[in-house]
Amino acid sequence: MEFVGYTLRNNLFVAPMAGVTDRPFRQLCKQLGAGLAVSEMVTSNSLLYGSAKTLRRANHQGEVEPISVQIAGADPQMMAEAARHNVDHGAQIIDINMGCPAKKVCNVMAGSALMQDEALVAKILAAVVKAVPKTPVTLKFRTGWNREHKNAPAIARIAEDNGIRAIAIHGRTRADQYRGEAEYDTIALVKTQVRIPVIANGDISTPQKARFVLDYTQADGLMIGRAAQGRPWLFREIEHYLQTGELLPAPAVTEIHQILRRHLADLYEFYGEDTGVKIARKHIAWYTKGIAGAATFRHAMNQLGNVRDQLQAADDFFLAHAEQHERLHYETPAATPGGDDSTTTATNEVNEVLAA
Ligand SMILES: Cc1cc2nc3c(=O)[nH]c(=O)nc-3n(C[C@H](O)[C@H](O)[C@H](O)COP(=O)(O)O)c2cc1C
Repeated sequence: MEFVGYTLRNNLFVAPMAGVTDRPFRQLCKQLGAGLAVSEMVTSNSLLYGSAKTLRRANHQGEVEPISVQIAGADPQMMAEAARHNVDHGAQIIDINMGCPAKKVCNVMAGSALMQDEALVAKILAAVVKAVPKTPVTLKFRTGWNREHKNAPAIARIAEDNGIRAIAIHGRTRADQYRGEAEYDTIALVKTQVRIPVIANGDISTPQKARFVLDYTQADGLMIGRAAQGRPWLFREIEHYLQTGELLPAPAVTEIHQILRRHLADLYEFYGEDTGVKIARKHIAWYTKGIAGAATFRHAMNQLGNVRDQLQAADDFFLAHAEQHERLHYETPAATPGGDDSTTTATNEVNEVLAA
């Protein structure tokens, strides 16, 4: 896919998820079939640029290009400054977050709350585009701020008029938070009204759903978040289905075991062992969710505090699963890794990002 001046492997995007889409996870998704992965949101508050978390979020060493960095905030000049700062530190695409319903973001009128103030939206977009004239700027937002005010088409036109090169729309309003099901009518409507690429987002969890959303909205690409948690190979499954109309068989347990090991090694290296072990817990939980014995395993694994014990536990779990099944086997077919528990933590994670 040609996207804002870059050639991507396909039109599948990893959704930015604070606390999830760190460099190790983005890299893995790209290796396993994603065309582009947007980084975790970075604050536009320059006072926090030197904090360990913000520095780590700005670390793109070895990352598959193009590097897209998301910024959040409500002050046009601060956002312009943040865009310049991130471009100076390696960002090749700047993505603006107007899709986040987290209280901290909305209290200061950032994230999706901004959609209520279309004049301010225009000012922020114009300031950012002007600040980084050689760098494409993209925008992520929701269908509106509540179901009575679905102004995504107006925001999309403002975006196009102000030089935004592509938009991603999550098919929920800000008031919906993560409740209910994403709807795609608004995304389809926006697609008929702008010429810039439109990426559809929300509740895309299977190859068949991906096909449906692409056809229904006529969007140029798809953005996938929670369904990829613990399942970064979902991108190659969707890619294959979109290309051939055929479903890939479930991956071999031995392959997933190796993918998890590689992911854990990256986490330990990126965060250091102590923090790495803590961060790894949620990923291991997502990888194993829905597999027989996972609940007991997770409980025990969460008590382990060092790399050796954590790796051993993960090995034991996958070796035992491989004895029973050649291919990954979920107990309940509907068990989708990621899912509800991650949506409830989303707000906390985002608050944490902004507190940096
Ligand atoms: C844990 C978590 C963190 C998120 N953080 C961000 C973020 O930093 N920026 C953003 O624009 N959206 C964020 N989102 C929203 C996702 O990018 C996406 O729009 C949403 O999850 C819907 O897509 P999905 O159904 O494929 O998960 C987050 C979502 C989750 C679950």
